[in-house]
Amino acid sequence: TITRHALVAAISGIATVGIALQAHAATEVNLGHTLSDSSHYSVGADAFKEALERLSDGEFTVTEHTSGSLGGEREMIEGLQIGTVDVVITSTGPLGNFVPETYVLDLPFLFENYDQARCVLDSELGDELLEKMGDHDLIGLAWTENGFRHLTNSQREIATPADTEGLRVRTMENEVHQEAFRQMGARPTPMAFPELFTALQQGTVDGQENPITVIVATNFWEVQDYLSLTGHVYSPAIVLGSPILLDGLSDEERGWFREAAVASAEATREEVSRLEREGVALLEENGMTVKTDIDVAPFQEAVQPAYEIFTSEYGTEMLERIQDKA
Ligand code: PAF
Repeated sequence: TITRHALVAAISGIATVGIALQAHAATEVNLGHTLSDSSHYSVGADAFKEALERLSDGEFTVTEHTSGSLGGEREMIEGLQIGTVDVVITSTGPLGNFVPETYVLDLPFLFENYDQARCVLDSELGDELLEKMGDHDLIGLAWTENGFRHLTNSQREIATPADTEGLRVRTMENEVHQEAFRQMGARPTPMAFPELFTALQQGTVDGQENPITVIVATNFWEVQDYLSLTGHVYSPAIVLGSPILLDGLSDEERGWFREAAVASAEATREEVSRLEREGVALLEENGMTVKTDIDVAPFQEAVQPAYEIFTSEYGTEMLERIQDKA
């Protein structure tokens, strides 16, 4: 005879197995980025989550890891290659270390405005660069956006390249950017973004450069008094997937990831445009002195050697194709 105790244990065992099976029905997708929950990347991450969960009818659930909780952008790209993270929204800052073909996009003053940059990235040329990720254990899902980068610092108003003389400026871990700042006269200090706020607070570096989107999302006014709208480089971003997850999926499933990434990029670009319209006023309200009327010609001239160094190493083909299109 079965005791009441044994019966209860058997039923609860069956229930546990049932719950476990249900839990396995959805695959959790871990998505990482380095910015805060209020940032344009979070707007993009939310759009990705909404689209993937809807398109897959709950087969995939997306968990967002924000504010660099999975590390800096370089570390997260490595994570994609070894499968510790599934999807990452990152600037191209550290990407050239993995996919050198993307360095061309980081050249200063390559694009004049948002329309031009978006148009190039949405063309077959952008698709070609997305494809290149495949040669480096990464999957390029869609081009998204960080924005035109501007210079902030704690020391003085910057109006000309000469004003940057000796200024310790944190740059991304990107050799094209470092060279450009060296040519201007500044002292470039490459550093992962999660370390930056403390470095500015402690005075390890005097300045940094990032789009309005990032300056707003990171409350940089707390540690930086001056902003100069240099717009010295357009900073593309990309939604990358891990081949460890995506290679094991069907074409239909991979299609959902691509579609979700495109939805993410659209939402992000809209948020970037909104912050371009409203962000400067917000930064001024928070006490930053903003220099808006910058003559960019001397900056353009100062960074010219970065082009020569780039083309001597990577050739001119892609650069010329972009310049023809832009
Ligand atoms: O400065 C950077 O490293 C990047 O612009 C950031 C803020 C991580 C966004 O991609």
